[in-house]
Amino acid sequence: MSKTFYIETFGCQMNAHDSEKVVGTLIREGYQQVIDEAEAGLILYNTCSIRDKAEQKVFHRLNEYKRLQGEGKRFAVIGCVAQQEGEKIFEKAPYVSIVAGSSSYRNLPEMLDRLEAGETRITGLDDRQTDETFDTEFTARSNPYRGYITIIEGCDKFCAYCVVPYTRGKERSRTSASVLAEAQRIAALGYTEIQLLGQNVNSYVDPSGKRTFAELLAAVGEVNGIQRVRFTTSHPRQFTKDIVDAIDAMPALCDHIHLPVQSGSTSVLKAMQREYTREWYLERIAWTKAANRDISLTSDIIVGFPGETDKDFEDTITLLDEVGYDAIYGFKYSPRPNTPAIHMVDSIPEEVKVERLAILNARQREIQRANYQRHLNQTMTVMVEGHNTARNQIIGRSSQNKTVNFTMPPTESALNGHGFSRAGREAEIRGALAPEGTALPAPGSYIDVRITQVFPNSLVGEAIAPAVAPSPALLAQQALNARITV
Ligand code: 5AD
Ligand code: SF4
Repeated sequence: MSKTFYIETFGCQMNAHDSEKVVGTLIREGYQQVIDEAEAGLILYNTCSIRDKAEQKVFHRLNEYKRLQGEGKRFAVIGCVAQQEGEKIFEKAPYVSIVAGSSSYRNLPEMLDRLEAGETRITGLDDRQTDETFDTEFTARSNPYRGYITIIEGCDKFCAYCVVPYTRGKERSRTSASVLAEAQRIAALGYTEIQLLGQNVNSYVDPSGKRTFAELLAAVGEVNGIQRVRFTTSHPRQFTKDIVDAIDAMPALCDHIHLPVQSGSTSVLKAMQREYTREWYLERIAWTKAANRDISLTSDIIVGFPGETDKDFEDTITLLDEVGYDAIYGFKYSPRPNTPAIHMVDSIPEEVKVERLAILNARQREIQRANYQRHLNQTMTVMVEGHNTARNQIIGRSSQNKTVNFTMPPTESALNGHGFSRAGREAEIRGALAPEGTALPAPGSYIDVRITQVFPNSLVGEAIAPAVAPSPALLAQQALNARITV
């Protein structure tokens, strides 16, 4: 078997970051990443099972892989579907050699040894008992501008609809000292933005008892060089006011909180086993609205949960109005294996789910259309993430996590025309973006942008100052990882 691998990742940011760790481990074990699956000795598929559609994709893809099987090629199914389906995957796709859930990745080197020794049925499936976490200093940091840190793995909430407690095991936090050490390593690589990850990130409990979650946020924000700290996903149950206070007190903590409500109806929340009421949730929202900073709020919502009446759904719509989210992710309820809700009758017909989702999204679009107006003529610091060359725009993100598409101001001679051809003018404008000679500001640059136009999902603006380029360390890291994808 050639020591080359190809990896494909689906699902949440936890999965994307798990892939960074898996890639780092594979490289450490002497493997080389290739971007063409046909060339790979080992094909890994990091899977998601949050909704049925995500899971169907896995089996569809595995079917496609069938044509690739042959001499020396090995397949690994890892992540949430692997944990959920276990050895059944070997039956459905006999050419798969490794089935491993995320809580077993620390055993990956050993699994690879067994693979290389010719074993064809290797499983890494932990039950909910594991206390282990998977931190590795060999993480392949492939994101060009953001360093991820998993601070808590697993989930103990058991929401009635959700597979995560079964696919990711019980909640286990890392010590704040190990989180801070990783934050320092990330800063040393030149990253200025860190995102703390956990399925319930604010359920974090420092095993050493040193810091609360809010104190950890602040401590990460104080790491030398770190300018932006994000965290996701928060659960309303453990959402405490000190989190808002920390954001208010510390500009490095981004003014954005993703706080999924799932439903605006207390009776649906009860059936979902969310363990809070509409009023309780709104009280947390009131804290964030009382902050000095303009804290952006976003949410996840499920429509069509078993038993959801028209009135329940109406409660969700009025909650949207009351909170005024800057974005929501709406989903139709999808029954999942092992979950308590699988035993409830999936009572809401598909067409009603479709209709409710459409109403929800339309209402939210109107809310955002109004909400985003507040940014017109504001100046905000944007971190560059990429470029839209077709539109000649730079794509970036505000601290509030909003997409900002912007241009650099044309130079004076470009403005005056001076007989420049269009191409020449564009070149001149590009030149103004990055005087050192690189065509456009690199991902990770910061630029102050004045907002000139607002849309329901994005802002458009013009830079009012030159870009502050990323450190040479980050540029070197980006070059190093240019061949790595997750
Ligand atoms: N059906 C539909 N949506 C779901 N989510 C989680 N489980 C389900 C399910 N069974 C949604 C929730 C969660 C987001 C990540 O996915 O809104 O917050
Ligand atoms: Fe998908 Fe949930 Fe697993 Fe993330 S934790 S990959 S969202 S099933």
